[in-house]
Amino acid sequence: MRKKIVAGNWKMNLDYHEGLSLFSEIINMINDEVTGRQEAVVCSPFIHIHSLAHLAKHYTKISLGAQNAHQAESGAFTGEISAKMIKSVGATYVILGHSERRQYFGESNKLLAKKTDTALKNGLKPIFCIGETLQQREANQYFDIIKSQLDEGVFHLGETEFSELVLAYEPVWAIGTGVTASSDQAQEIHAFIRREIAAKYNQDIADATTILYGGSCTPKNAPDLFAQPDIDGGLIGGASLKSRDFVDIVKVFNL
Ligand code: PGA
Repeated sequence: MRKKIVAGNWKMNLDYHEGLSLFSEIINMINDEVTGRQEAVVCSPFIHIHSLAHLAKHYTKISLGAQNAHQAESGAFTGEISAKMIKSVGATYVILGHSERRQYFGESNKLLAKKTDTALKNGLKPIFCIGETLQQREANQYFDIIKSQLDEGVFHLGETEFSELVLAYEPVWAIGTGVTASSDQAQEIHAFIRREIAAKYNQDIADATTILYGGSCTPKNAPDLFAQPDIDGGLIGGASLKSRDFVDIVKVFNL
């Protein structure tokens, strides 16, 4: 059975104190209410991670992640944060290739391939995001776009490295818009991604890869999405900023 994961992406929201207070609510609820083997992940801004990791020390169902990492190991890159630094404060995951990074910071598949290598080398598990824009969907190019994001971003990895990855399918037109992909639309792409992984590596690796859905996921639509055979959880933006909503989405996987 592959791992079920619900990851919150706080983006550039919440100051330090607000972040700590939200996280305290989340871990208490998770501790009391989560009865399955699913993992909750909170991807906060960098400055929160160390303190959140401290708070989460005795909670096994919750892990931490960052939202970006630099491709270089270290050096003269003023203002940047390395994978090693992120790992050293207690994070397990790092989101790479989010469409906002691709769109506003010009991150290409080639750059993201380097970021993936550096994150893995430093013991972080990338949550690697892929997905098409509305224009690409309407032009029926979405399978090609997703295939090239996989080919150029992560398919250079060897089997062992690839097995550390979590993938997230996030159609750009569904992010923060309130428009969710239907569970059929999402399942179609998730099954396609899994077939591509099987073709590149093998069926065992494809079956073991956790593939998350992201884009206007809420407690209301999560049960239907997560019931699809190839959807293994979610990457949650807006709803991860409300403890009740986030934990309710995590609880979709309760036994
Ligand atoms: P959203 O964001 O849930 O607010 O649509 C998802 C994401 O960007 O990861």
